[in-house]
Amino acid sequence: MARIELNNIQKKWGAFWGVRDVNIDIKDEEFVVFLGPSGCGKTTTMRMIAGLEEPNEGEIKMDGEVMNDIDARDRDVAMVFQGYALYPNMSIYENIRFPLRMRGVPKDQHDGLVKKAAGLVELTDYLDRKPSALSGGQRQRAALARAIVREPQVFLMDEPLSNLDAKLRQAMRVQIKHIQRALKITTVYVTHDQIEAMTLADRIVIMQSGMIQQIGTPDEIYNDPTNTFVANFIGSPPMNLIEGTLSDGTFVADGVRVTGIESTTEGKVTLGVRPEDCTVSASTEAELNGTVYGLEPTGDVTYLTVKAGDKLIEVKADRTYRADLDVPVQVAFDPDRIYVFDSEDGKRIQ
Ligand SMILES: Nc1ncnc2c1ncn2[C@@H]1O[C@H](COP(=O)(O)OP(=O)(O)OP(=O)(O)O)[C@@H](O)[C@H]1O
Ligand SMILES: [Mg+2]
Repeated sequence: MARIELNNIQKKWGAFWGVRDVNIDIKDEEFVVFLGPSGCGKTTTMRMIAGLEEPNEGEIKMDGEVMNDIDARDRDVAMVFQGYALYPNMSIYENIRFPLRMRGVPKDQHDGLVKKAAGLVELTDYLDRKPSALSGGQRQRAALARAIVREPQVFLMDEPLSNLDAKLRQAMRVQIKHIQRALKITTVYVTHDQIEAMTLADRIVIMQSGMIQQIGTPDEIYNDPTNTFVANFIGSPPMNLIEGTLSDGTFVADGVRVTGIESTTEGKVTLGVRPEDCTVSASTEAELNGTVYGLEPTGDVTYLTVKAGDKLIEVKADRTYRADLDVPVQVAFDPDRIYVFDSEDGKRIQ
């Protein structure tokens, strides 16, 4: 059981706001991912939940109990740090075992628990080594094993997979989600990798410059971004954002014309359309008329970059699609998947 509430959390250093107006209610057993660019306040927020950093204002509650004045060691959380923080003089076995000793877990259980955790992160053969004799990825997995060796109320994980190669990352993602579901432990996970956020989270918290931009399920964040920052942060390649003019339900920009937009807004707007909602078309009536600027076949999909005026627009084309550079190309937009944002403040209009 652990519900975590962050009520109006502020963290300031001098005049600099590290974290500002953070409000979130994390449900028991929930997997919440904080996502945002470098420096947006993810680690700081996590360190405040752990008790390693004190908020200037606001309340942190666990299961209804205010934690602000509770010492880090008295909060039942296990944290995986961004830089692993393994003890260099201890073997990997002793590193993983450390929390069991600290928490007074009966000695006869240690060996079984350490080996089980090591097995989950595929480190069974490395238990005798010192951290210095491991690769970055192996150290990261050791840090993960140390967090999961006992069952805390809360897991806090700060970019635990950032040093792994793509294949191992994917495998570990599945592993982390599986472990979290099996142990039913409330988890707060920090990353700047949107794929990690989308695949792991029950809910994603998107941060920018210390402030929350949106909180929602992966589907909500993907389908209903509240502003251009969120729209542009999720998706790979990200949503195309095209500046233009809206008049009488018709959007116009260089090489782009979209009709039938249900909005009463007139004037300058930003139109958003995801690369996967664009289709190469034979019709000159299609929404986008431009030229082929780039073509990247990847096997399962072909990334097509279309130049229209001075704008480059990304399209996920069929995997068999091929074209010469600079030839004219038409692209249709899925009419149900068009977004309109305010050009000034980036807020979603429609
Ligand atoms: N002790 C400190 N004193 C002053 N500023 C700090 C301190 N710790 C962090 N900051 C600043 O607060 C902001 C948020 O830092 P934080 O470490 O939370 O970012 P982050 O989102 O985790 O970034 P990254 O993805 O790079 O790890 C940054 O601009 C950082 O420079
Ligand atoms: Mg960080």
